[in-house]
Amino acid sequence: MATSEITDDLPPEFAGRVSAATLKDGRALIVFDAAGLGEAERAAIERDITARLSARSDVNDVRVVMTAERKAPTLIAIGSGKGGVGKSTLTANLAIALARQGIRTGLVDADVYGPSQQVIFDAEDAKPDARDNRMIPVETKFGVRMLSMGQLVAPGRAIAWRGPMVGNALAQMIDAHWDAEDVILIDLPPGTGDVQLTMVQKYKPAGAILVSTPQDLALIDAARAGQFFDAAAVPVIGLVENMAGYACPHCGEVSDPFGKGGVEAAAQRLELPFLGRIPLDLAIRQGSDAGEPPAAGDSAQAEPFLSIAGKLAAWISARS
Ligand SMILES: Nc1ncnc2c1ncn2[C@@H]1O[C@H](COP(=O)(O)OP(=O)(O)O)[C@@H](O)[C@H]1O
Ligand SMILES: [Mg+2]
Repeated sequence: MATSEITDDLPPEFAGRVSAATLKDGRALIVFDAAGLGEAERAAIERDITARLSARSDVNDVRVVMTAERKAPTLIAIGSGKGGVGKSTLTANLAIALARQGIRTGLVDADVYGPSQQVIFDAEDAKPDARDNRMIPVETKFGVRMLSMGQLVAPGRAIAWRGPMVGNALAQMIDAHWDAEDVILIDLPPGTGDVQLTMVQKYKPAGAILVSTPQDLALIDAARAGQFFDAAAVPVIGLVENMAGYACPHCGEVSDPFGKGGVEAAAQRLELPFLGRIPLDLAIRQGSDAGEPPAAGDSAQAEPFLSIAGKLAAWISARS
């Protein structure tokens, strides 16, 4: 008996939520994704399905499995002390690299002051739909669904929002229909402002990754961001050094415009894991600007992101 035949007896609005439907020896089994539905609604749906299928002459037993008890996705925050250090670049490429490793990954661009993920993901025109008053993350061509502040407001408009509005926007993006994701990476604004506060108070991440360039000033700010997460009891998964070692595209000579190894030394001092180093590489910037993040390809530029994603995946699986 083809499963499509028993789903024909269910209301069409259930279609997106029925993840399995089988009929064997008169026994019907329906697996229903009830994520986000209330107790009463769930019970009503279960009764409805049971009644409809029991009415069939070839069915004498109906079992409905509700999978609302799905584990909530693991939230991982990506932070930095200051802007322009490559936080968004790292977040996008880590999300893509995790997805390539088979981890269902979503991304929230919570940088209210300078959202950029819709550019990196080549999803500038994508506007999220809503269902039951909750946003549905937009699909991207990289196997990562996402929501960005940049999709919620007119492009180019400076967002000078105050605390409650910022918290509200963050809530909309995190309470969205993340029903298919295991992990959500959150691209935070720089520093330790309203978004970070709302985050740790209402949507406490499982862990945070801090990005810094090797300059002393960036490092001091990164250490401060680390203290913030520490105080909020959010474990710092580790530090990433970005824009280290510039390989000249003409002669190949490697120089260190912002110094080198500073982040690794700082991680040691702060007794935090060092997750890896991403070189300053023109191809990384060009790829990001063009909506072709390097982690999606097989160039040398993908390698550090894949390596850091592997460490993040190990951290996540060790805690669950
Ligand atoms: N490793 C890198 N090599 C070259 N350019 C980079 C690198 N990391 C980031 N960039 C570029 O630097 C700029 C700032 O990076 P971004 O990720 O937007 O920083 P943040 O989110 O911390 O403000 C962007 O133009 C980005 O493409
Ligand atoms: Mg950014």
